This record gives sequence, C-alpha cells and structure tokens, in this order.
Amino acid sequence: MCGIVGYIGEAQAAPILLDGLSKLEYRGYDSAGIAVYDGEEIRVQKATGRLKALSELTHDGATMPGVSGIGHTRWATHGAPSNVNAHPHYNQDKTIAVVHNGIIENYMKLRKYLEGKGCQFVSETDTEVVAHLLARYYKGDPLEAVTKAMHRMEGSYALGIIFKDHADKVYAVRKDSPMIVGHGKDGNLIASDVPAVLKYTRKVYFIQNEEIAALTKEGITFFNVDGDEIAKEPTTIDWDVNAAEKGGYEHFMLKEMYEQPQTVKDTLNPRIRDGEVVIEELGMEDGEICAVNRIHIVACGSAYHAGVTAKYVFEGLARVPVEVDLASEFRYRNPILQQDDLVIIISQSGETADSLAALREAKARGIKTLGIVNVVGSSIAREADRVMYTWAGPEIAVATTKAYSAQLIAEYLLAIKFAQARNTVSAQEVEGLLRDLQKLPEQIEMLLGNKGRIQHFANRYIAAKDVFFVGRGIDYAISMEGSLKLKEISYIHSEAYAAGELKHGTISLIEEGTLVAAVVTQEELYKKTISNIVELRSRGAFVLAVTNTGNREIEKAADYVIYIPQTNWYFTNSLAIIPLQLFSYYVSVGKGCDVDKPRNLAKSVTVE
Ligand code: F6R
Repeated sequence: MCGIVGYIGEAQAAPILLDGLSKLEYRGYDSAGIAVYDGEEIRVQKATGRLKALSELTHDGATMPGVSGIGHTRWATHGAPSNVNAHPHYNQDKTIAVVHNGIIENYMKLRKYLEGKGCQFVSETDTEVVAHLLARYYKGDPLEAVTKAMHRMEGSYALGIIFKDHADKVYAVRKDSPMIVGHGKDGNLIASDVPAVLKYTRKVYFIQNEEIAALTKEGITFFNVDGDEIAKEPTTIDWDVNAAEKGGYEHFMLKEMYEQPQTVKDTLNPRIRDGEVVIEELGMEDGEICAVNRIHIVACGSAYHAGVTAKYVFEGLARVPVEVDLASEFRYRNPILQQDDLVIIISQSGETADSLAALREAKARGIKTLGIVNVVGSSIAREADRVMYTWAGPEIAVATTKAYSAQLIAEYLLAIKFAQARNTVSAQEVEGLLRDLQKLPEQIEMLLGNKGRIQHFANRYIAAKDVFFVGRGIDYAISMEGSLKLKEISYIHSEAYAAGELKHGTISLIEEGTLVAAVVTQEELYKKTISNIVELRSRGAFVLAVTNTGNREIEKAADYVIYIPQTNWYFTNSLAIIPLQLFSYYVSVGKGCDVDKPRNLAKSVTVE
C-alpha cells in the first residue's frame, strides 16, 4: 500500500531516501516523511501531499544531515491524510522511529494497553502503537524488542525501524507485507519494493514472513522471529525499472489481480474479532441498524455491479429491502427516500462526480449516508456521514479488480452485521459465514494459480466480435462485471444478460460460434440456467461455464467448464470473478491493447 525506504552507509541518507520514495510514487500517496539520525538525535520531517513538498521542505534532503534513516510515503488507512498521521512515528521520548506498511489488526487493544502504561499517542494511526510497543520492550537490545513486539502484533506489517541508541543499524521486519533489502557498494538499503533500490544495487534479498534484517554500513544480518540468525541468498535483479515498478508483472492490472488474496485479507481480517463482525467506523448501534427501513445502494460502473451483488446478500441475510441505482440515474430521478432509509455510496476513488452528487442529494434530503470507499480522505469519504474503508491500497490500472473484490468483502461484512443486529441469522449460521469468508483469500489464490488454462482459452477469442455473459441472481451480477471487464480492456462488444431474459429478444443475436460465458454458481438455479445453456448451444453458441466444483452435470451442457471452489452461495462472486478477470486480461493482451490504460477511459471520473 504505502512505500518504505531505509538507508545506512557512507553517503548522506536523506537524498537517497527521497530518491527511493520517488520510485514508489506510482503507488499513490497522500503524505511522506523521513527520519534521519543526525549524530545526536533522530530528526523527523513530514509533509502532506506529494513528495515534492517534503523535498522542498528539506531542500532535497540537505537540511537533514546523517548517514542512516528511514522514509515513507503514506496511503492512509487508519486516520486521515495529515502531517500528524504521516510516518515515521516516534515513541514517547523520540528514541525510536518507525515506518510501516500494512495493518496492525489488534492496534486498538494494544493502544489501550499502552495508554494504560502511560504512553501518550499523538496520531490516529495503528503504526504509532509499534513505536510505543518497541519502547516498552527495549531494554538495551533492539533485536529483543523487535521480536517481543512481533509476538504481540497481529495483522500485516513491513517495518523500517531506527533506534537512537543503536544508530549504526537500520532494522527491517516483514509479516504479510513485502520488504526487501538491497546490498549496495557504499551502503545498504531496505525498501517495500524493488524500484526504490535499483539505482544503488541490483543485489537484493527478499525477506520472508516473520523475518528480521539488521543492516549496518558494511553488512546485513538476518534473524527469525525467535531472534536466531538465519542465512539468506541474494537475488540479482535483471528487470528494467519499469518492470520493477510492476513488481515483475507485465501490467498493473495483472499485479493488482494477484494482490486480491491480500486485499481480501486486509479488508476482512481486522473486522472479524472473536467470531464477531466488528465495524467500528460504522458507528451504528444495533437499534439504529434495526430501524433501517430500506437501503439504497448508489454507485457507478464496477462499484455498481458490486452493489447489485449486495442487494442479494443484504436481502437474503438481513431481510432488508435494497434498491440499487446507477449514480447518474439516481441523482436526476427524484428518488423516493424516507427518514429511516440508509443510502450507501460505493466508490473506489471516492471522487466519482455522479456518486458524489448522489451522496449530496441524499444528505440534502436528511437521509443517513454511508460511504464504502477505498481512497482515504477522498470527497465521498469526507462527506458521507460514515465511511467504511476498503483496504485495497492504490489501484493503478484503470480497470478495477482488487478494489472491486474489496468492495464485495465490505458488503458481505456489513450484511452479516445487519443480519446479526436484526436477528435474521443464527449464531451458528454466522459462524459458518465467517468461516467461508476467511477461506476466500486462499481460494482466490488457487484460482489465480490456474491462469494457464484461462490464458489458453482466451487466446482463441481475441478475434471475437460479440461475447455474452449470462447468469441468474448473483450470477447475473457477476456476469455484469465480467462483461464490463472484457469490453473495457479488449474493445470487444459484450453484454450481460439475466439468463432468463435471453428468450425475450437477445437470443436472436446468437450465431454459430458466438461465445457465451455462463455463470452458474447458485445451486438452486442450476437447472434453470442449464436449460438456458442448452437453448443457447442449440442456436450455435459456444458456452464457457463458470461453476462450483462438484457441479459435474454442467459438463453435459457446456463446451468448456471452469470450476471455482465451494463457498457460501452469497460469496461466489468473489471467486467466479477471478477467471473472468483473467479471461479479459488475456484477451486484451492477445489483442495487443493497452491493458492498463484503455482508450477513452480515466481512472477517476470526476465529470458527469
Ligand atoms: C471499471 C471501473 C469503473 C469504476 C467506476 C466507478 O473497471 O473501474 O467502472 O468502477 O468508474 O469508479 P469509483 O469506484 O472510483 O467510483
């Protein structure tokens, strides 16, 4: 999500830190900061906005002398983008400075504990907890403090740490968030991503989960979480800088698809505690949730498709009526909104003009609003009464993948929360739902691992003129997103249809060889959709089916079958969308399209 850089060596650290951070700029950020040990103390400088502001503030690093330091570009998760929330963070007496990527899931609990011990916090971040926790365990040996803190922290973290009393070292720690160490000629570096170090070295060590690196001017030592020294082999990076920014992936879209297991974890795990869904930022008591009469979900594009899925999940689990609107329609149709309604605006960027206007319309009518937003501090996040963040990190590719997946997770959690409050599900059902949710990251990873078969299939369709995506219920919502992905990045005309609607006109477009992707994950509807598949095939369609493992019946009806692992039927979108994303991606690559920046499109649609 954010970017980390650290340096210790012969040269001045600050210019190297700023240069490294500039190489991570593609990740997007809202503030930046560096900490440098100047021979007497650890000095920190921070600035909100682009990195340029920090460079200007420090005269390109010249005002911060010192040969060791750490730096960070922040993509806000906990706490708004601001100077005080920007990293690095100090402990109480400013003898330890920390930069962090990831999410400390139990930070509230740790913060309470540390406050109880007299620590005073200055920021809203989860990261500050790390600095205080390290101070608590520091008894003269930094490694001991780090390993002890690691045993207390839950969640994901890549950390860069400096200790004033051991300024001849920079520490790096990793758990479920990337971190590398670069071995340079005149010094050593840490970074959250390879491009930050490429100017100085191509000899890199990849730190694995729960490992620690201690860097000095001369060398690097690695340890496991118990503090035992471990051996590591360096890798020589031979990518060019462009490829490195994509972490070795050919496109940002592919990289972001592969980030989905982590994105799902980041949006999900901090909100499941002791078998309960906890959405602190929702700020709604059970009574308030019960009083909600109707939910209006308003969004654009893929976010709208996520909203269509949410309708099935909310209505099914929480038995609350849901209307889903395109934001551009909602704002001009004079919607009927009542006092006890809740308007949910879904948006990755938080800046989409129509979604923002819809939010303002709802607020102007005195209706409660909730934003499901990815970009912290964006307009929708700021203006909605409440905001639930999807922690997908910056999304660079125009076609959304990981942010969409995170939106689905946020909706599932909200729906379960509503269902619990409204007493429409039993404790046992909730247990099963949460169990299935927690399996999703691994299942998505498995689906991504099967990309070869989809790539092979996609190569057969790069010359297709029309493709149809069909399904019933939630499968229809998945079809909509599958269809949008294909058309926007491959420029192939595609349409999504409710499978039962085909006979009312659209089936006349089916010709010999027309590709139809049928999504068949809703067990109760298997037979109905299979009948539609048979009708399509008898008119010449070639049918690709995406269905659940075990639905062998489908092999008799469809031409090509992709199986997704078993999950609760409310959550199948999270799995079925993966092969459809991969299919679109490989068709686009096969056609030689500009995958990350499709023609006529922009990442953030800030005009009507
Ligand atoms: C499609 C896509 C768009 C966005 C839409 C809304 O891949 O990314 O359809 O989903 O423009 O954008 P946000 O979510 O930023 O409001």
